[in-house]
Amino acid sequence: MTQSVRPVPKGISVVIMLAVVFVFITTAPKATFARPLMQASDGEALFKEKCVACHTIGGGDLVGPDLQGVPERRDQAWLTQWLLAPDQVLASGDPIASELLVKYKNVPMPNLALTPDQVDALLAYIGSGATIGGTVLPTGDVTRGKAFFVGDKRFENGGPQCMSCHSIAGIGSLGGGNLGPDLTANGYTKYGDGLASFLSSPPTVTMNAIWKNTPLTPQEQADLFAFMKNASVSQREPGALLQIALLAIVGAAALIALAQFYWGKRLKGMRRPMLERTFAAAKK
Ligand code: HEC
Ligand code: HEC
Repeated sequence: MTQSVRPVPKGISVVIMLAVVFVFITTAPKATFARPLMQASDGEALFKEKCVACHTIGGGDLVGPDLQGVPERRDQAWLTQWLLAPDQVLASGDPIASELLVKYKNVPMPNLALTPDQVDALLAYIGSGATIGGTVLPTGDVTRGKAFFVGDKRFENGGPQCMSCHSIAGIGSLGGGNLGPDLTANGYTKYGDGLASFLSSPPTVTMNAIWKNTPLTPQEQADLFAFMKNASVSQREPGALLQIALLAIVGAAALIALAQFYWGKRLKGMRRPMLERTFAAAKK
């Protein structure tokens, strides 16, 4: 009896174990990760964190288009796809994406690694009729902007000087660091007036990591914007080349004059007796 009974509990326990595992697998993810669906209010927070650098809703174009009315002009599936992976949509040759890219100065919208939940929340927010952005910055000052850039003036919230990672025209021939791109061509020329809002919460990886915790004040943004705009308008290349050419010409002229002054006499003084000796020898 015992012999035949024994395997039965074993079999049962295996079944129970399997059942437990099965129940665990099917329910555990829901139990541990379940949370209320993201709402439009989460979308607002996300939008402020990840989108306001390049977009307004109802405040006009920045680096990217004003998103007011976007839910009406694009279909939901396209928008979802776009927000999940704009780089892939563009790479697939999507006609809307290609047209937008050209229209927005060939600045591609970065893939922000959003989750599907975040995308839903963002679309709910964008479609909710809310407006955001388009804040007007105070008037910037080019000189103060330069002082911030090179670190002569400190940022109120303690952020690092831009020059430690960026070069730009107008900060002297030695330039700045090169962890970040040269901002002569990658600042105002690339982003246009959107550059001012870019600085309010930069969306790119390194920049975001720095400025999220030590944000620039609106006045600092405005000053830096004024300086970078000025720098890109008075491009480094022609100015610097002219300077170098002028320096070379002035330098060469000075050297020639010096050479004339010092060696001219010496050469003449040496050459004449030598020539005379040679002629004298030839006459003999
Ligand atoms: C670095 C700038 C940048 C950031 C950050 C950014 N976008 Fe964009 N976005 C663009 C640009 C530029 C375009 C136009 C298409 C292109 O050039 O790739 C665009 C296009 C779009 C479009 C399509 C608009 C249309 O008319 O069809 C939507 C929707 C959009 N962005 C939503 C968002 C949302 C939501 C976020 C935040 C999660 C965001 N973007 C963050 C730059 C940005
Ligand atoms: C610690 C290094 C570091 C500092 C400091 C820094 N940046 Fe950057 N910046 C970067 C890097 C790296 C990038 C490239 C994108 C990224 O990874 O964020 C970048 C990108 C940029 C861009 C976009 C350029 C492009 O080609 O799209 C702008 C504009 C910019 N920085 C402006 C500034 C300004 C203005 C300051 C000072 C207030 C500053 N940065 C300070 C590292 C830095």
